[in-house]
Amino acid sequence: MYDGGKIIVGLIIFVGLVTFPILYNMGKPAAMPELKLNTPEIQQLQEKHCVESKEYMRANHMQLLNDWRDWAVRDGKRVYVNSEGKHFTISLQDTCMHCHSNKKEFCDRCHTYANVKPYCWSCHLAPKEKET
Ligand code: HEC
Ligand code: HEC
Ligand code: HEC
Repeated sequence: MYDGGKIIVGLIIFVGLVTFPILYNMGKPAAMPELKLNTPEIQQLQEKHCVESKEYMRANHMQLLNDWRDWAVRDGKRVYVNSEGKHFTISLQDTCMHCHSNKKEFCDRCHTYANVKPYCWSCHLAPKEKET
């Protein structure tokens, strides 16, 4: 006679161990994609800073780009002074995409994850993909 009770307890633990990682990950969003900052332009930077802080950019880059467009196109303003007093040329192509010349690995990757499709690239030139 073997001990049926022990086998059943053993089976329950086994099934639990096997399914735990699956159940544990259910309902969680997919992991945030890794964003590549290894473009030649960014690697040359002394300080790996964006136009504004990373937190600000993450939350507000859409609004900032809107403002940049309005300032450039409506007001002819071509220089942006950031919160630290540094100057940047107001240009999607020549400024943002100069540093982030890996649009696919950076902008697109996050947008795919967030399910947004900015329509900018039907007019603005996307950068030639650059990575080191
Ligand atoms: C001088 C080079 C440079 C320019 C110009 C630049 N970036 Fe960045 N960007 C960076 C670097 C470096 C980081 C990472 C900053 C950090 O880790 O603190 C970054 C971070 C970001 C992030 C946040 C990424 C994250 O991990 O959440 C976004 C979004 C972004 N940039 C968008 C833009 C946009 C839009 C523009 C143009 C308005 C722009 N960047 C212009 C270098 C640049
Ligand atoms: C950390 C993630 C992340 C990165 C990196 C990122 N974006 Fe975004 N972007 C978003 C999210 C999320 C939204 C949608 C925000 C919303 O709808 O409020 C968005 C929206 C936008 C929009 C507005 C689109 C619309 O239809 O409203 C533009 C333009 C844009 N991003 C440009 C860029 C560019 C250019 C880069 C690369 C230089 C970039 N983003 C990098 C997350 C990111
Ligand atoms: C229908 C075509 C079209 C679309 C789509 C478009 N733009 Fe533009 N954009 C222009 C034109 C034309 C200018 C004016 C260029 C100039 O004066 O140098 C401009 C200028 C800008 C400027 C300021 C100057 C520069 O060279 O960057 C920014 C920033 C900008 N657009 C951002 C965006 C963003 C972000 C999107 C997507 C959400 C977008 N645009 C979609 C046509 C377009």
